[in-house]
Amino acid sequence: MGSSFPAPLRLTLALLWQLGLSAAIQWLGLMVNGSRVAWNETQHCKILDGLVPDQVQLCRRNLELMHSIVRAAKETKGVCQKTFSDMRWNCSSIEYAPSFSPDLMKGTRESAFVYALAAAAVSHSIARACASGELPICSCGSVPSEVPGPGFRWGGCGDNLRYGLQMGSAFADGPMKSSKAGGQATRLMNLHNNAVGRQVLTDSLETKCKCHGVSGSCSVKTCWKGLQDLSEIATDLKSKYLAAIKVTHRHMGTRKQLVPKELDIRPVREAELVYLVSSPDYCTKDSKLGSLGTQDRQCNKTSVGSDSCNLMCCGRGYNAYTESVVERCQCKYHWCCYVICKKCQRTVERYVCK
Ligand SMILES: *[C@@H]1O[C@H](CO)[C@@H](O)[C@H](O)[C@H]1NC(C)=O
Ligand SMILES: *[C@@H]1O[C@H](CO)[C@@H](O)[C@H](O)[C@H]1NC(C)=O
Ligand SMILES: *[C@@H]1O[C@H](CO)[C@@H](O)[C@H](O)[C@H]1NC(C)=O
Ligand SMILES: *[C@@H]1O[C@H](CO)[C@@H](O)[C@H](O)[C@H]1NC(C)=O
Repeated sequence: MGSSFPAPLRLTLALLWQLGLSAAIQWLGLMVNGSRVAWNETQHCKILDGLVPDQVQLCRRNLELMHSIVRAAKETKGVCQKTFSDMRWNCSSIEYAPSFSPDLMKGTRESAFVYALAAAAVSHSIARACASGELPICSCGSVPSEVPGPGFRWGGCGDNLRYGLQMGSAFADGPMKSSKAGGQATRLMNLHNNAVGRQVLTDSLETKCKCHGVSGSCSVKTCWKGLQDLSEIATDLKSKYLAAIKVTHRHMGTRKQLVPKELDIRPVREAELVYLVSSPDYCTKDSKLGSLGTQDRQCNKTSVGSDSCNLMCCGRGYNAYTESVVERCQCKYHWCCYVICKKCQRTVERYVCK
């Protein structure tokens, strides 16, 4: 385990480690060293302890996919932190990968989001890599079967969602298929949320077009199916995170399934994120719960959303300070072709939680 953890957290992590609990998203640890390897020798598949045997095998057989998977791990971190920068829980614990603090170890709403996003990210990354010609094993997505609308024809190179989903689910779901990763309820939760992530990815497929014709007249238009950026997929998943359903593992008919805990008896829906364990409010620091607290977090005095000083600081109040920022200003266009700006200094008020 890395030594970059605060001491109390290190203790908690060591304890979880001893209990044999491990997160099925340990592969996110590839973001640490994954870019340093060339991924052209099967022994590279051993650089991360956190890969389960199925993932190692997939790696050995498909070395060329690993660049896309490493990219997916990095994107998951960046996009998660950006998407949650206005929330009390701000996804910073993803930085501990391949170890995690309890907010991502215990079947919480936060882990539901991260699993779904990570699963979507792998498939997204592979689907795009196929289309960009990076992978010898796949190429553009197949031509859509739907009849093209008026004024365009199918062409270009679409993202290969089918291949992305196939290899992405084999990789991201691998840990849940192996017997070691946590209890059965957690495994079902993770599998469900991974599938939700991939469904949101699939729904993000949209028609993108390019114009041709004399001097941009757009008399000929070619279109293909392309995926939206991961940050948009994350925004959809954040809505699902806010509406996530608490579930419990119980008999429904002959099989044990995840069923909503506090609603009518019904199976969980394909489209909803589910979690097993309630989260703390993330207001105060509690490393046993994986909460960093919001002290010293920046808040927005005029916002009425989750980044408002009232919500972010949990009613504790805030401190104001001023900061001077230097900006480009009074820009003038000079013919031809450059812009000259002045530098202006401006003071801005900032607010941080007590
Ligand atoms: C990354 O590489 C360093 C140096 O080889 C090693 O100490 C560390 O454990 C590795 N971390 C991960 C997550 O693979
Ligand atoms: C893998 O790539 C590295 C760096 O590009 C190169 O030095 C090495 O010889 C390659 N190994 C094989 C087995 O091709
Ligand atoms: C998230 O919040 C913690 C705790 O306040 C802070 O230390 C950290 O810098 C924040 N991380 C990001 C990525 O904003
Ligand atoms: C604060 O929130 C307001 C209203 O939502 C927004 O217009 C403004 O850009 C935000 N300011 C900062 C510094 O994020």
